[in-house]
Amino acid sequence: MKRSSSFNGFYFFIALLMSCMAVRAQLSADFYSTTCPNLLKIVRKEVQNAIKTETRMAASLLRLHFHDCFVNGCDGSVLLDGSDGEKFAFPNLNSARGFEVMDSIKSSVESACPGVVSCADILAIAARDAILLSGGNSWKVLLGRRDGLVANRTGANIALPAPTEKIPSITAKFAAQGLNLTDVVVLSGGHSIGFARCVTFSDRLFNFSSTGAPDSTMETTMVSDLQGRCPITGDGNNTAPFDRNSTDLFDNHYFQNLLNGKGLLSSDQILFSSDVAQTTTKDLVELYSNNLPLFLADFANSMIKMGNISPLTGSAGEIRKNCRVVNS
Ligand code: HEM
Ligand SMILES: *[C@@H]1O[C@H](CO)[C@@H](O)[C@H](O)[C@H]1NC(C)=O
Ligand SMILES: *[C@@H]1O[C@H](CO)[C@@H](O)[C@H](O)[C@H]1NC(C)=O
Ligand SMILES: *[C@@H]1O[C@H](CO)[C@@H](O)[C@H](O)[C@H]1NC(C)=O
Ligand SMILES: *[C@@H]1O[C@H](CO)[C@@H](O)[C@H](O)[C@H]1NC(C)=O
Ligand SMILES: *[C@@H]1O[C@H](CO)[C@@H](O)[C@H](O)[C@H]1NC(C)=O
Repeated sequence: MKRSSSFNGFYFFIALLMSCMAVRAQLSADFYSTTCPNLLKIVRKEVQNAIKTETRMAASLLRLHFHDCFVNGCDGSVLLDGSDGEKFAFPNLNSARGFEVMDSIKSSVESACPGVVSCADILAIAARDAILLSGGNSWKVLLGRRDGLVANRTGANIALPAPTEKIPSITAKFAAQGLNLTDVVVLSGGHSIGFARCVTFSDRLFNFSSTGAPDSTMETTMVSDLQGRCPITGDGNNTAPFDRNSTDLFDNHYFQNLLNGKGLLSSDQILFSSDVAQTTTKDLVELYSNNLPLFLADFANSMIKMGNISPLTGSAGEIRKNCRVVNS
């Protein structure tokens, strides 16, 4: 009898341990509530300052989080320096930005709570704050991610979608991350803020798919405006805003623009204009174009989903001291 009750106690202990480990493996909104109680305030203030200095930084931080999560999960790998860094992958080269702002946020967080908060979590909070401060909805950021030990440049080239890709392959890249067609359309609404370089869309302006003419799905005054902004002899480094109506405001003009042939990238406009769109994404674009609250709510949900991609938890990875290098 005695023996069996200590046996039961043993299994109870194991069960408790396993349930704790299961909890540890989940992200949670209050992960740092005792270890870094002012974390959210610190990040909010830093993001506020960064956006005050340069409005575009909101967009840049959002994109960094997306590019982090799609490569080896949300593990801060996009922030690592080094010639094999994801920074040098095609989707990031000469376009990913916000690294100095991340350095500044990290250093404020380290002053308050040294060695406690991961760069991956700071980036997830910064992306949320960037959206909120640009007019979007807030959401509770789930926390407890740890930082990865490697960057994956090849992975970035493989996993991140290109602006010339068609709906089936973009959808496949999202599906590989556990994100569905709704997530594709909603998260493409991230292009409600920010800018793109001419090189990412200029094929649409002059000789689209070797037709000798611009992309016929682009509205004509927008074509001529962009042709002026992106001369065919230029270096492709000029930029244009994604949302010509409200460049810095996080709203649903992105979707209204698609209805009017005013999507900037091919990957934007095809959500409404391509043959595949007619059977898949077009209805969602129309839905969000005339329902701002629904878009903002769904965007927040999809961001939480994206933030959950393969986090390192427990004792995996590390808490980086400097977001640019793994700890020595
Ligand atoms: C659906 C597939 C996507 C494609 C093909 C795509 C492609 C691009 C490209 C080509 C640029 C411009 C980069 C440059 O100037 O070189 C860009 C910028 C941007 N992307 Fe995406 N993107 C996609 C999805 C997303 C998602 C899911 C988000 C976030 C939720 C996002 C947020 C942004 C933001 C905010 C910018 C502007 C960044 C800035 O101004 O610094 N994109 N994207
Ligand atoms: C890099 O990313 C690719 C594509 O996501 C993945 O298949 C590969 O396992 C990753 N490599 C490392 C070393 O993490
Ligand atoms: C995508 O997933 C969300 C839940 O995360 C669900 O509400 C939505 O209906 C799904 N969309 C599609 C097209 O399956
Ligand atoms: C468009 O590109 C194709 C293929 O490069 C080329 O053969 C054609 O001459 C170009 N047309 C114009 C009008 O530039
Ligand atoms: C475009 O800008 C990047 C820096 O952002 C620079 O390295 C590159 O040389 C520029 N391209 C050209 C053709 O000047
Ligand atoms: C966007 O701007 C264009 C040009 O200024 C204007 O014609 C259009 O009505 C605007 N659309 C919205 C939804 O504000």
